[in-house]
Amino acid sequence: MTDMSIYLDNAATTSLHPEVFDAMKPWLTDNYGNPSSIHSYGRQARVAIEAARNNIAGLIQCASSEIFFTSGGTEANNAVITSATESFDIQHIITSPVEHHSVLHTIAHLEKTRGTNVSFVDIDQKGRINTDHLHDLLKDTPKTLVSLMEANNEIGTLTPLIMISEICKEHNAWFHSDTVQAVAHYAHNLNHLQIDGMSASGHKFHGPKGAGFMFISKRSRIRPFIYGGPQEHEMRAGTENVAGIVGFAKALDIAYDNMADDATYIQKLKNQMINSLSSAIKDVAFNGDLSNSLYTILNVSLPASESNQLVLFNLDLAGIAASGGSACSAGAVQESHVIKAIGADPNREVVRFSFSALNTEQDIKLATDKLASLYQELKTNRSGVPKEVRVNTKTEKPG
Ligand SMILES: Cc1ncc(COP(=O)(O)O)c(C=O)c1O
Repeated sequence: MTDMSIYLDNAATTSLHPEVFDAMKPWLTDNYGNPSSIHSYGRQARVAIEAARNNIAGLIQCASSEIFFTSGGTEANNAVITSATESFDIQHIITSPVEHHSVLHTIAHLEKTRGTNVSFVDIDQKGRINTDHLHDLLKDTPKTLVSLMEANNEIGTLTPLIMISEICKEHNAWFHSDTVQAVAHYAHNLNHLQIDGMSASGHKFHGPKGAGFMFISKRSRIRPFIYGGPQEHEMRAGTENVAGIVGFAKALDIAYDNMADDATYIQKLKNQMINSLSSAIKDVAFNGDLSNSLYTILNVSLPASESNQLVLFNLDLAGIAASGGSACSAGAVQESHVIKAIGADPNREVVRFSFSALNTEQDIKLATDKLASLYQELKTNRSGVPKEVRVNTKTEKPG
């Protein structure tokens, strides 16, 4: 083991900002009222929730009545897609093969239970949407829902939301975007975006886990997803996560205050890693669209080698946290659906590094040096680690 500790897995989750923690604390301790209670404890909590909602709506430029708090991105994606499909009797859903599983599995469920037709829009080797194909898929299909993510969580490729929203409006389709990896990294102006639904999650930008929201345009109201009490304008029942909601709004506030500087700084770190790896490892490649991708994610593709699976594990042993491109289910390593969908060589090993403003140039240097030396070592010494350790290298990939 090593004393080094470098966290480069910020697309999976981020550390809680200390000011966010401070803002949340009173709602976990003294101010524990239920926001539905009419006494002063409850009223204080209600005021805090509505202040958070107004704050968020001001930042992303929508009406506060269009924001509904959820337990995070997964719930928001499930809720928006399922409820919109039921509310508008959607017959056809168009999505892409590189969406997050909370979108893909929801759509697969609707296909199975409702018989909804599902189409996958073509993407290219960089994960970019083929907009001509989207036009074709939308032709002559009424009652259609389109769900396309803004920023891919594995390879970082960005989707032009404005263009996609215009295509959807042209064809009268309902448009949802999983914006979980993009919110707080890019400014959204929903007044100028013809989007019907979108999803966000606080723990991707130094907010708390278990707190997110769905935006649902007032132009197209949908039915509730969770039934029960009248919370969230009867759209999402359940006692609100007051501390989580307050923390979410605070984290978004901080992110907006620092967005331009952080984006420049993080992009610089990403460029540093691209340049260093390119000179240190012959034939290294980067998955995704480097010319138009989320500045927080770099998906590194290492030349094929028999010991590749050990790279992540050895990075972890060296104190460097990153993510892989494979997931394990029932003991078998499966290729990531994103890496597969872009047609990448399955024999190459994928390591996803994802950055935050808390990372330093030194972090990047150490991680790059380690990856380069590890790669050489594993290439020449196939028995890199003991056998029992190899078994433990198979883990479920988050985020
Ligand atoms: C693109 C994308 N969508 C949805 C989610 C799910 O968000 P949450 O962890 O808040 O459920 C994630 C994160 O894992 C994500 O990266």
